[in-house]
Amino acid sequence: MTPLLQAGTGEAANQVTDRLPVKIAVIGAGERGKVYASFALHNPLLCQVVALAEPVSRRREAFLRRHVDIPAQNVFLDWKEMVKVPKLADAVVICTLDQLHAECVVEFAKLGYHILCEKPMAISPQECAAMTRAVVQANIIFAVCHVLRYSPYNRSLKQLLEAKACGDVINIVHVEPVGWWHFAHSYVRGNWRCEEQATFSLMAKSCHDLDILCHYMGTNHPPRQVHSFGSLSHFRRDKKPAAAGLATRCVDCAFEKDCPYSALKLYLDKSKHDDRGWPASVVCGGGEVEVDMENVHEALKIGPYGRCVYESDNDVCDHQVVNIEFEGGATASFTMVAFSELVCERQTRIHGSRGAIIGDSQTIRYTDFATGKTTVIDPGTETQGINGGGSGHGGGDYGLMATFIEAVAQGNASLLGCSPQQALMSHVLVFAAEEARKKRVVIDVEDYLRSEACID
Ligand SMILES: NC(=O)c1ccc[n+]([C@@H]2O[C@H](COP(=O)([O-])OP(=O)(O)OC[C@H]3O[C@@H](n4cnc5c(N)ncnc54)[C@H](O)[C@@H]3O)[C@@H](O)[C@H]2O)c1
Repeated sequence: MTPLLQAGTGEAANQVTDRLPVKIAVIGAGERGKVYASFALHNPLLCQVVALAEPVSRRREAFLRRHVDIPAQNVFLDWKEMVKVPKLADAVVICTLDQLHAECVVEFAKLGYHILCEKPMAISPQECAAMTRAVVQANIIFAVCHVLRYSPYNRSLKQLLEAKACGDVINIVHVEPVGWWHFAHSYVRGNWRCEEQATFSLMAKSCHDLDILCHYMGTNHPPRQVHSFGSLSHFRRDKKPAAAGLATRCVDCAFEKDCPYSALKLYLDKSKHDDRGWPASVVCGGGEVEVDMENVHEALKIGPYGRCVYESDNDVCDHQVVNIEFEGGATASFTMVAFSELVCERQTRIHGSRGAIIGDSQTIRYTDFATGKTTVIDPGTETQGINGGGSGHGGGDYGLMATFIEAVAQGNASLLGCSPQQALMSHVLVFAAEEARKKRVVIDVEDYLRSEACID
């Protein structure tokens, strides 16, 4: 096969070659499934969607209207039906909600599909370990959608670190500002509000962040010890403003106009959002009904996204700090916080023995201590040679797809820059951090790995 990627760069070229597009099956035509599948529409020489499993008819039909070449016999209502038939594609892209990933990965691995699985891998360390064992045993290419690793910004940052521009990394300070309205949407009213129904917020939101910290530190410096503090401080009944009275929905609330978390402001203020796209699309059941202002308004009267943020059934932390010590003694502190103006624009300071970096998810300010010179790098959001713009996550969504597709095309898992065991390790760090928070202890990550029976 003709290699289209320059090794390790993620730079693929949409040029005519003798190579056939990589065939993918998509599991779950929700928000994420649509994004990854759109890569194929923009880059048909690289990738083609040939099969789909999705139980919700409107989502399935909308998906099939975009991907018109999927044969009818390759459309399923459940991924469990797809694993009953012989292999339909080179790879499967698993985009169901968190609780459904583990079994799905294990079953598709048995059939020899290469697998791209949405993050988090799963919601328990045992499941993550079982998935790792399954994909290693099947000898397939496996990637977790840790999209941040594949954005041009983080590729540039990692290249600087690998070139030892900062000397030895001594300390990292990293912040994930979730954004006040985004947190209210996803973690107070939405899919990831309850640990029991989904997972804890550090896993749901910030498995990306603990993974990127492990990535910055490199495989020679795995995490050794971790502790954490955090809680659900604000989105609770006892914090409800008195003026909101007994109202349980924004549409009935006297305080609504003064409330920063008003669902009416969030979903009906067109100046803030594309009124047909995310998050309004989620309010309309992910496309179960037409996304228009009338339906959004109706959903706010009866659905979960119209609830008062102080009257929801949420229980996940709205702020959490994690401190990590890595092999060799380097330290990192991480903060996930709901209450920010920025929305998911991670802020990072990397302090090294001969240089420092300040990154804001867009530009990298690098200061060389020897020369005193500061250089500002703006890597943009587009992966060279990939059509369709950078897509979301600073270009990480398409950067990941380009890299995964290329790894499958070349049969070369090393292009991913992350082994299944490394993906497992960064998830284990998240589980260990959460346990450290709950038990108020410092946890030795390797001991935790063994105690949770993750190591054979
Ligand atoms: N990588 C990222 O940055 C990122 C961002 C947001 C969400 N996520 C993760 O992506 C995943 C999907 O999130 P989403 O927002 O797209 O959710 P979603 O609810 O919009 O989509 C999930 C889809 O899976 C479908 N589904 C359910 N059961 C199924 C089955 N048995 N077979 C086939 N399909 C089935 C649902 O009907 C739905 O359409 C989650 O794990 C989430 O945590 C990742």
